[in-house]
Parts: sequence; C-alpha cells; structure tokens
Amino acid sequence: MEDRFGHRINYLRVSVTDRCNERCIYCMPQELQEWLPRSEVLNYDEITRLVRIASELGVVKIRITGGEPLTRRDVLTLFRQLNELPRIKDVGVSTNGSLLAKPLESGETLAEALARFGVRTANISLDTLDPEKYRAITGRDFLQQTLDGIAAAKAAGFEKVKLNAVLMRGRNEAEIGDLIRFARREDLLLRFIELMPVSTTNVLNEQNFLSVGEAQRRIEAEFGPLMPEPEFRTNGPALYYRFHDSGQRIGFIGAMTNLHFCESCNKLRLTCDGKLRPCLGSHLEFDIKTPMRQGASDEQLRQFFLEVVDRKPQQHEFRYNYQPGRKMVAIGG
Ligand code: 5AD
Ligand code: SF4
Repeated sequence: MEDRFGHRINYLRVSVTDRCNERCIYCMPQELQEWLPRSEVLNYDEITRLVRIASELGVVKIRITGGEPLTRRDVLTLFRQLNELPRIKDVGVSTNGSLLAKPLESGETLAEALARFGVRTANISLDTLDPEKYRAITGRDFLQQTLDGIAAAKAAGFEKVKLNAVLMRGRNEAEIGDLIRFARREDLLLRFIELMPVSTTNVLNEQNFLSVGEAQRRIEAEFGPLMPEPEFRTNGPALYYRFHDSGQRIGFIGAMTNLHFCESCNKLRLTCDGKLRPCLGSHLEFDIKTPMRQGASDEQLRQFFLEVVDRKPQQHEFRYNYQPGRKMVAIGG
C-alpha cells in the first residue's frame, strides 16, 4: 500500500481496548471515565481478520496497544491468533509494564507467554523512577510493579525491550539523567517523547511542554556530546544518538518540533472500536467495523484499506492548534 505522498504503509498499530489500569495525565481524561460498551469493541476474530487483510496488502509489522492491552481478558488468545498469520513478520506490544511480571497458571510470567506467542518487541512506558512522581503522573502506585515488569520482559527473551518516557516540564524533567542511567544499567533502549495534544488539552500547554531539543541540550550538559546515528532506525519516527563514551544509544521522538517527523511515516492505526485512522494527528477516521459486521467480503475490506491509505494526510496537524477529538487511550499510542 502506498499513499499519495509515496509513503509505503507496512505497519499497523492496533488498539485492543480503551481501558487501562493507570490514569496518565497526558492520556486519560481525569474526569470519571466512561468505557466503550463491549459490543462496540472488536472481538479477537474481527481484529485477526482485519490484520490478515492488511497483511495481504503489505503490512508486515503490527503493534498491539491500548489503553493497556494486557488488561483485556484472555488477550493471549489474540496474540496466538496473530502469530498464525504468515505474512506478519513482526509483532510488538506497547504496555505500561505493570502486568508483565504477572504469574500465569502455566507458571510463566505474562511476558514469557507473550514471547512464546511470537511477540518480538515490548515498548514499556516509564516516565520516572521516583515513586511519588510515578504516582503523580500515572495516578497509580505501580512503580515497583512496573520495574518488576521490565525485569520480566528482559528475562522473557524478547528481541527488543524499549523504554518510552514522555517529557514534561516540572513533572519529570529532573528524571532524565536517572532514566538514562537506569537504561544504561539495564541495557535497554530509552526514547524520550514530546508531549502531544492527543488527550484532554489542559495537560499540554506552554508551561509543561519540554522539547526534545531542550532535553538533548540538558543531557549533553550532563553526559557530554551525543553522536547522531542517522542510519539507526526502528519502526518509528525516533531519531537516535549514541553517547560519546559508551555504547548506549537513546532516541528522541519529536512529534511537535521535528519538522521532518512525518516524512518516513509507514503507519496506519486501527482503534479498538474498529475505526481506521490514517494519522494520529488528524481527525480523519473511517469506520471499518460497520461494513465488516454487515457482511463485507475480504475484497471489499481490502478496498476499504486502500481508500483509507489514499486519504492519509502528508503530515499531522499538531502544530496547527489541533484539538483532540478522541482520547489517546482509545486510539492507541
Ligand atoms: N503525548 C505523548 N505520548 C503519549 N503517550 C500517551 N499519551 C501521550 C501524549 N499525550 C505515550 C505513552 C506510551 C505510548 C503508548 O504513548 O507514554 O509510551
Ligand atoms: Fe494507560 Fe498508557 Fe494511557 Fe498511561 S499512557 S493511561 S498507561 S494507556
């Protein structure tokens, strides 16, 4: 699949739930949460079918997100089904990490079971190593649980475990050094992400925004120069750097300030309630659930995907006073 701007679409992010066991200030509205009714959420066979159809159109990588995907009941069934799709070469999961160390009846941890079902990468959110700040940011006291989850992920044998930290002035700006040292000690790839206006707007304002450029300057002041590594890329728009005195690499996801952010976009998103979104930072979304539930054929659904890709914008609209229409939690981060 190729869009009008020459982007080759080979990556689908799939949100499997809008629910989460945390309440991050930049993701969830703080008011009383109303979850989608179960009937609105795609079931595992529906998700698997849409991923298969996408794979027939060239999607080879998928990432399962939420909300917190690991809170969905019996989610391993979905991973097992997805693992059986021959054209999908790379399955990853984005998680807050709090459930990865959970012991299952089989005696494995949840992380081990995911690895066994073919999950290759785990992206774990970690904005701070300070329990108080963790609580202030996520609304929950799960720091230790999350650290256990990170350890479980390392032990489970994923090919890659990455840490994602959202930058917030005044909330975790003093944590940057500690996060880097933690990632170095644990040999994990850490990425810093700019706060995006994808949730309630009151969390993103001039006061709490911290650009990746400023984070980089602070890091260099403390750790010395960072060497750009333009050839090193993962699936996404992160730019990577290496410390001059160690093999450690870190990434910056400058969704707001990097003007080239969208140039290499290879993504499409499927929301948990069955909408295809060609871009995280655009209100465009297309309901594929309704035609699917009304009996559309594989061929009709393939056509639907192609039409959505054709509507993919050249770049996101975050820099133009974008007002979020949907909670991040329901789109899939
Ligand atoms: N801005 C930037 N990143 C966000 N995430 C969630 N909401 C936002 C936001 N408003 C990130 C989480 C997680 C991933 C799923 O998305 O930190 O790493
Ligand atoms: Fe949950 Fe992740 Fe959103 Fe935090 S950012 S509330 S952990 S889905």
